[in-house]
Amino acid sequence: MKTYQVGIIGATGMVGQRFATLLENHPWFQVKCLAASARSAGKTYKEAVGSRWAMKTPMPAAMADMVVLDATADMEKIAGMVDFVFCAVDMKKDEIRALEEAYAKLECPVVSNNSAHRGTPDVPMIVPELNADHVKVIPFQRKRLGTKRGFVAVKSNCSLQSYVPALFPLSGFGVEKALVCTYQAISGAGKTFETFPDIIDNVIPYIGGEEEKSEQEPLKIWGHVDEEKGVIVNADSPAFTAQCLRVPVSDGHMAAVFASFKNKPSKEEILSCWKNFSGRAQELQLPSAPKQFLHYFEEDNLPQTKLQRDLEGGMAISIGRLREDTQYDYKFVCLSHNTLRGAAGGAVLMAELLCAEGYMD
Ligand SMILES: NC(=O)c1ccc[n+]([C@@H]2O[C@H](COP(=O)([O-])OP(=O)(O)OC[C@H]3O[C@@H](n4cnc5c(N)ncnc54)[C@H](OP(=O)(O)O)[C@@H]3O)[C@@H](O)[C@H]2O)c1
Repeated sequence: MKTYQVGIIGATGMVGQRFATLLENHPWFQVKCLAASARSAGKTYKEAVGSRWAMKTPMPAAMADMVVLDATADMEKIAGMVDFVFCAVDMKKDEIRALEEAYAKLECPVVSNNSAHRGTPDVPMIVPELNADHVKVIPFQRKRLGTKRGFVAVKSNCSLQSYVPALFPLSGFGVEKALVCTYQAISGAGKTFETFPDIIDNVIPYIGGEEEKSEQEPLKIWGHVDEEKGVIVNADSPAFTAQCLRVPVSDGHMAAVFASFKNKPSKEEILSCWKNFSGRAQELQLPSAPKQFLHYFEEDNLPQTKLQRDLEGGMAISIGRLREDTQYDYKFVCLSHNTLRGAAGGAVLMAELLCAEGYMD
């Protein structure tokens, strides 16, 4: 595989820092430039991040002295330097939509962590193990944008990266409805215990916009590319209802799931589906793909956030406590690392898929 030059837009933020650490020794991707707001532009990465560095490993030495560029003012320069950019910025949605499309129109593909374009019908929202075939919508988006190689591809919300991977492989039984309660880490809000002391010894029962995303975004993943209309048509089912809580955990989103099926499977059939499930990411042996996507734990007290969140580099999903329910067919719990699988890691994996499928050439 050839080497791709990449940029990180929003490099100083929580997700941007995660991109920097994940890309440090990436076999295909080489970080050529870092960009953020005008507040950081002109400073070295080390100066711009300052005390905000929240990763457990040190800042990559090769990036520490890179001068941070202005994501908007230096856009043409950045687009000319790289093969594509990763983007994770804290801006208004319409500003993000405009920024990402502007990069795409400069023929610089954008792999985005932001939610702004998730509802755009010709923008694929890909979990590489589940709906890799949605890349087929990219030529239609390029046509709309008037580009040859530029496009935007997005990652889904971090909350659903635990329960959607567990339910999707059971589609053959007709997943009718699912109720999920998520227990979400503070890094999902770009916070640490130092910057968010109110969460210590506390649970906050509201995360703005999260329940809507948790209920609606799965239907795009279950959707299909309509090649006549050139868009992704969302599925009508499963019906999701969600409650999302912020809990005093640094990293790792847990979900308690209740699900009912058109044709109720046996417990053994569910376990077998999970054990044997793999997707395009495993087939292509993408560098960031977990060997085993779904891990089931038999122990009653597993998975635990602290013990399992880093499984397979934080890219695998942990599931446990599958049992029958009195009101739904089954209930179980599942866990994913929100800033790895749920954010930067999932975006890096999606970028690997897009490269392997020829969309970055
Ligand atoms: N944290 C997660 O687990 C997670 C998961 C999934 C998705 N996301 C999404 O990823 C995005 C970033 O989240 P985060 O947690 O990394 O936020 P964050 O820590 O607050 O970082 C925000 C980044 O955006 C940059 N930025 C702000 N205004 C900008 C502007 N006008 N132009 C260019 N860059 C600008 C900041 O640069 P300065 O340092 O220069 O201000 C910083 O690099 C958000 O859309 C969020 O919803 C986050």
